[in-house]
Amino acid sequence: MNVYEILQKDHETVKALFGKLEETTEDQVEERERLFQTLNQELTVHAAAEEKFFYPALKNVEESEDDTLEAIEEHKVVKKLLKELEANQKGTKEWAAKLKVLQENVEHHVEEEEGELFEKAEDILDEEEADSIGEEIEAYKAEHSEMEDAG
Ligand SMILES: [Fe+2]
Ligand SMILES: [Fe+2]
Repeated sequence: MNVYEILQKDHETVKALFGKLEETTEDQVEERERLFQTLNQELTVHAAAEEKFFYPALKNVEESEDDTLEAIEEHKVVKKLLKELEANQKGTKEWAAKLKVLQENVEHHVEEEEGELFEKAEDILDEEEADSIGEEIEAYKAEHSEMEDAG
């Protein structure tokens, strides 16, 4: 898979997890814990892989510099919300509200990433580069999926 395919696949996985979490109620704490742990793992590894292998290729190019810097800042907001969600009681309406804010942030980020950023990346990276970044991301994901396998 090239970089666009693998990142898009991750985005779909995350979207599906948000959908499942949305259906849970305040009394389904264990289910929320389980789904949230998976979501947290997915988003954390995905963001780290982008920051390690994808964004560096775009950050030093004038055409994509601003979009990449914005994406990095959006990742920081997502990570902050994930930390709060991890620490807070999951059986509350406030928790569900915070999750909704995370979901909206992620949706906005994904929209810009798959839109503007991918479009610019396609100008900047040739096919070979897009393939090799995809491979690096796949390898990184495989290396950092122990938690998922154990769970
Ligand atoms: Fe992404
Ligand atoms: Fe991202």
